[in-house]
Order: sequence, then structure tokens, then C-alpha cells
Amino acid sequence: MSSNPQSINSQSNSYALTQAGDRYFDGLAEKFSRSLYQAPRGELRLAMLDYLLPEMLSLEGQRVLDVGGGLGQQAAWFAERGHCVSMTEPSADMLNYAKNWHRDVKSLPEGAITYLQTPLQLLTQHAPGPWPLITCHAVLEWLGDPQAALAALSNLLAPGGQLSLMVFNRDALRFSNAVKGNLEKALSDRLAGKGKRQRLTPISPVSHAEIEQWGADNGLMIDAVAGIRVFQDYLRQPPATPEEAETLLALEKQYCRHDPHWRLGRYLLYTLTKSETPE
Ligand SMILES: C[S@@+](CC[C@H](N)C(=O)[O-])C[C@H]1O[C@@H](n2cnc3c(N)ncnc32)[C@H](O)[C@@H]1O
Repeated sequence: MSSNPQSINSQSNSYALTQAGDRYFDGLAEKFSRSLYQAPRGELRLAMLDYLLPEMLSLEGQRVLDVGGGLGQQAAWFAERGHCVSMTEPSADMLNYAKNWHRDVKSLPEGAITYLQTPLQLLTQHAPGPWPLITCHAVLEWLGDPQAALAALSNLLAPGGQLSLMVFNRDALRFSNAVKGNLEKALSDRLAGKGKRQRLTPISPVSHAEIEQWGADNGLMIDAVAGIRVFQDYLRQPPATPEEAETLLALEKQYCRHDPHWRLGRYLLYTLTKSETPE
């Protein structure tokens, strides 16, 4: 028996899904940081976003709402480029991690980032906007109802406003399961994670067809799409030297917006624009 049942309780609670079926990342900040951002796949993701966001968005120093901002990398990226950012995140652990990190980043203009601990579903109350630019990266796949979330994001956007949306690609998850030899799993399409313990397999992976449909339902037009990590996950041998890593990055950049390659990116990155006139 545990000598400290209270900590076990609070830990198992923090790993539970919310009533809405969402997975807040309480208790996961360290693991998420270690297994993603301190690893080559996280480095590649950030390098690709650094390359793609200026290409895919019209950036004019506008205010940014970063939804489910996690450890705060995206908020910092925009703040360093002169945007005022409202970073929102329901997990106190993640938000504190981001705040502490931002405090140490010398290049961040003071006061450029404000923080709000709240889930996406309550943003119409706490940060109604309307916003000229919203980012929501790698969040929808952690929600019980990603379709409703896209509708909520659309409601927060100003007419003509842009949404930078990144989602975990269900089609790529099937492909990578097959490559790893999980053929039964791929065949039966049992791809989603359950959000148990510290597992980082998303509970609601999303397909391009769904984004097309949900976007159209909510007056959002797809302006641009790209695949993030189109090749990296399928390499038989990871790059062994910094030069090989550079070559991989160049390859990813070259094909991330080309059909058919973008379709198998581990993540799909979209720019969606809200129509100027009501539906
Ligand atoms: C995979 S992380 C992505 C973090 C960050 N956007 C990034 O790209 O690194 C998913 C984040 O979504 C947050 N999240 C979960 N449910 C949410 C909700 N209902 N509203 C907003 N964020 C949510 C989690 O707490 C977690 O920080």
C-alpha cells in the first residue's frame, strides 16, 4: 500500500479525461517537453513552423489568441515578432511551465504575452475577441468533440480573420501503425489513444476530409495546407550527423506543400480564413 495515498489520488485524477472527454496536460509538462521538444521530432516541428507560418499567414503584427498553448513556444514565436499574444491553456502545469520559461527568454518584449487558464470551450466568455488571428496547434486531437471545437474557434474569429490550425493526422497514424507492423490495428482502424496515464497517443486524431467538412460548415475557407513531418517518422535510419539532419529539413521543406506528400504529414497545418460576410 502507498504511504502517500493523497498524492496517488491527485495524480490519478489529473490523468483523467474531463467531463467533456478532453485531455488536459496536467502532470504531463515534463514528459511532453522531454519526449517532444527535447527530441529531433520537436526540433523539426518548430523548424517547419518557423518556415511555414510566415509563408502561410499574412502577418501584420496583429493580436494573437493562442489556444491550448502548451509549453508556450508558439506564443513566444509571435511575441518575438512584435505581436501581442493572449496565451490560453486549461492545464495549470503547462501554463506555469510556459510562464517560467518565458520569464527567462531575454528576447521576449516585456508584457507581450498575457496568460489565461481556461479551456477552449469557455473562450467566448473569457476572451471573446473577435480575434484577427488565432492559433490552435495540436489541440483538437486531445478533445472529446473536435468538431464542436472548430465551430467555437470560428465564433471567436473576426470576419476575414485567420486561424492557424494544426491537427494530428489520422491517415498518417494509420500509415505509421502499418509501417511499425501493427497491421491488425491499422486494418480495424482502432487508431485513437485512450488518454490513459501518461500516454501521448491522441484520443481524437483528425482527417483532412473532416477539416474540409467542418471548415465549410463554419464559414472557414482553407487558404493553405501543409504536412509537418512528412518523411521523418518513416526513415529506416534517423539522421546520424547535423548535416544529415539539415538535409532532412531541406527535404521536408521541399515537399511539405506538394501533393501527395503533405497528405501523410504526421500533422496537418492549415490556414483557414473566416468569410467577411455572415453565412
Ligand atoms: C499536444 S499539446 C499542444 C500544445 C501546444 N499548442 C503545442 O503545439 O506544443 C495539447 C494541449 O492542449 C491542451 N488542451 C486540452 N484540452 C483543452 C481544451 N479543452 N481547451 C484548450 N486546450 C486544451 C492540453 O492541456 C495541452 O497543453
